[in-house]
Amino acid sequence: MADTDDFRRRYGTHAVVTGAAAGIGAAFAESLAARGLHLVLVDLPSSPLEALAERLRATHGVEVHAMTGDLTDPAFVEAVAAMRDRHEVGLLVSNAGIALLGPFLDLPLEPQLAALDLHCRASLALTHRFGQRMRARKRGGIVLLSSNSAFLHTPLIANYAATKAYTLALAEALYEELRGEGIDVLALAPGMTRTNALLGSNVDVGRAKYLIREPREVAEEALAHLGKTPSYVSSAGDRLAALLFGRLLPKKLSLTLAKQSVRYFYPQFKDRLES
Ligand SMILES: NC(=O)c1ccc[n+]([C@@H]2O[C@H](COP(=O)([O-])OP(=O)(O)OC[C@H]3O[C@@H](n4cnc5c(N)ncnc54)[C@H](OP(=O)(O)O)[C@@H]3O)[C@@H](O)[C@H]2O)c1
Repeated sequence: MADTDDFRRRYGTHAVVTGAAAGIGAAFAESLAARGLHLVLVDLPSSPLEALAERLRATHGVEVHAMTGDLTDPAFVEAVAAMRDRHEVGLLVSNAGIALLGPFLDLPLEPQLAALDLHCRASLALTHRFGQRMRARKRGGIVLLSSNSAFLHTPLIANYAATKAYTLALAEALYEELRGEGIDVLALAPGMTRTNALLGSNVDVGRAKYLIREPREVAEEALAHLGKTPSYVSSAGDRLAALLFGRLLPKKLSLTLAKQSVRYFYPQFKDRLES
């Protein structure tokens, strides 16, 4: 398949995907296995990662190394980074994430710090570690998971949105900085995507039904945009929201509307923060 050959030529033989056991990460793993890349898949010990690895080996005939651990632990991040000494890792998808929805001062601090470590610190460290090897080979690709909330600075998911603004900024800057080195970098900003994280957040699926995308569509679109644009928002509605809320509307109005939209889609906040 031309697409497969082209992909392996651009990115080499192995890809690392974090948060790979479920949702968007599992969709990336499937899409990359279908392109013939061998995989290093990373997720929490409690996750069904080995079952996915087994299925991808059987279906696509690729090698899959499953690594379980907690990416908020810097020692585990280094263990994942050490895969660069064992394999030619030409593609990194830093996808593992946790959604923390709720009034900032009511959410406990510890999980918010964990989100900071996972979304920012782990993504930074893996990008640096694998990026150096990619530069030496003059080829590679890096996808950092952001979110549409990164453009909106959405109230009621304030810390989550702020960490996702970090990955958006890092990826966009590196898109320009590393393209001369043969490395493609993309910030992927999914809108609502049908995953355990979204469905577990108590979103009103009826109200959101025209916005919700499937993980595989999102992963395929991201891979198609890698190397073509610094960031990609995965639905037309969310692209419009990013433009309006993030660029065109006055900041005070866009923050008020972003807060109202959370209250519209998440019934648990309907009566909270009236104003
Ligand atoms: N779904 C959406 O609507 C949406 C929208 C915007 C952005 N995103 C972003 O897209 C990415 C994937 O989200 P998703 O919806 O596919 O989430 P998901 O279904 O919850 O999958 C994320 C995976 O990451 C794992 N993970 C969580 N914490 C980890 C840690 N400390 N170390 C290693 N693995 C960890 C999760 O394990 P557990 O399940 O055991 O926690 C899970 O397997 C995230 O970065 C998220 O912020 C998603």
